Amino acid sequence: MMTRVICDDADARQAIKDDLDTTLVVEAAAGTGKTTELVNRILRVLATGRAKMIEIVAVTFTEKAAGELKLRLREALEHARATADGDERPRLELALATLEEARVNTIHGFCAELLRERPVEASVDPLFVVLTEPEADRLYTRAFRAWLQEALTDPPEGVRRALRRSSFGGDADGPIDRLRNAGRMLAEWRDFPRSWTRPAFDRGATIDRLVQALHQLADLTSRASSDRDNLFVDTDGVRRLSRQIQLEQSVGPPAPGSGEPRHSSAASRTSPNGRTDLDGWEARLIDLTRDRGFSRTRKGSGYKFAKDVTRTEVLAARDALFADLQQFRKDADADLAAALQQELRGATERYQQLKQAAGALDFADLLVRARDLIRDDADVRRHLSTSSRIPIRFRRKSWSCSPTTCPESCSSSAIRNRPSTGSAAPTSARIGTYAIGSRRAAGVSCISRRAIAACRRSSIS
Ligand SMILES: Nc1ncnc2c1ncn2[C@@H]1O[C@H](COP(=O)(O)OP(=O)(O)OP(=O)(O)O)[C@@H](O)[C@H]1O
Ligand SMILES: [Mg+2]
Repeated sequence: MMTRVICDDADARQAIKDDLDTTLVVEAAAGTGKTTELVNRILRVLATGRAKMIEIVAVTFTEKAAGELKLRLREALEHARATADGDERPRLELALATLEEARVNTIHGFCAELLRERPVEASVDPLFVVLTEPEADRLYTRAFRAWLQEALTDPPEGVRRALRRSSFGGDADGPIDRLRNAGRMLAEWRDFPRSWTRPAFDRGATIDRLVQALHQLADLTSRASSDRDNLFVDTDGVRRLSRQIQLEQSVGPPAPGSGEPRHSSAASRTSPNGRTDLDGWEARLIDLTRDRGFSRTRKGSGYKFAKDVTRTEVLAARDALFADLQQFRKDADADLAAALQQELRGATERYQQLKQAAGALDFADLLVRARDLIRDDADVRRHLSTSSRIPIRFRRKSWSCSPTTCPESCSSSAIRNRPSTGSAAPTSARIGTYAIGSRRAAGVSCISRRAIAACRRSSIS
């Protein structure tokens, strides 16, 4: 299938209005006239008799945008009816009379309609309720708490490590809230079940090496000639952490029945060098990258830092440790995220069970279930392709359009344009990472789920 990009603004607007048998995707920045052009196109589709109002599907991301679209469509229809003649007038009058039946809706509302029409084929409760975001959030919290309580009897690696991590700066949430938020996000993306890549990461060896480097830098800086030297002052966090770790290393493993939590061997171990608290040290080493002084260490002044140590030597050791710690933070976070992605599936499963018991669907269910229904059921596809003519999908660009930011170097809008497939069999009907197409190929295209998530946060039409 051929794709053409129209970058000239006037040509793009013309194509939207007149190229009625071509599938278009319009990307344009905020306030550039997307809704105006969409209304114009729908009017032309109706006036030329290509489709009836009830055959049109126009989806938006927010209720507000759907309401505005309907209102503007009504105004435009009333205005056009007054000046229309010939066959166009009765067509527009019929459109106006049936406007309330038209599928001018949010993407979620549209999916809910499809599912209500075909609950058996979609395997949903015919009387399902749609959870609002706060309701879904509360239900997820219930599921998460139950899951966590169980998980804490023998915490898996990711949970164990995540709960040892500190809250920092603007991060007002504690470790449990952070874990819940991560789980909630993963539950939203449950339609992408593939395990994340988890590159080999020797956490224990890396921590051992970093702790050695930490002790060395602590030792080096503690020899400062002056305790008012800025380089000495700003490396205080290094010496404190070094002392803390040395103290922990000198203490043996927790005695049975001591009341101190016992960790699995991956969390703590005892070696000839003393006890190693891998989870705790991972968290503290990562905290050090955010330490105010250590992350912005001042150089201080003077060639000599101590009697037998030059300032350059200390700065080089500080920079090397800081760079190593930053890399460690990245690697450890990626490793932890991949572990949690697996472990938090249990919470997602509980959430799914709670929803099922309540006969409820959340927004992600609406998209996924409607997609599956259309993808898997040829009969539903056939029905939709004969009952709906879908005019166009407009997508607001997430970046503001200017000659420097526009990838297509256009002035305000860009149209991707695919020739009609004529009266051939229905193009595949897709939602989510897919698109919905119609027999007349008037076409909607590519609604990415990432875009949907982003658009729920900002308003889009
Ligand atoms: N071709 C045009 N020339 C000048 N003004 C226009 C044109 N098309 C639309 N407008 C005006 O621009 C304003 C914004 O139009 P519209 O609401 O259609 O934009 P939008 O892209 O849908 O905006 P939003 O991103 O906020 O949804 C309206 O006042 C509209 O009348
Ligand atoms: Mg708009």
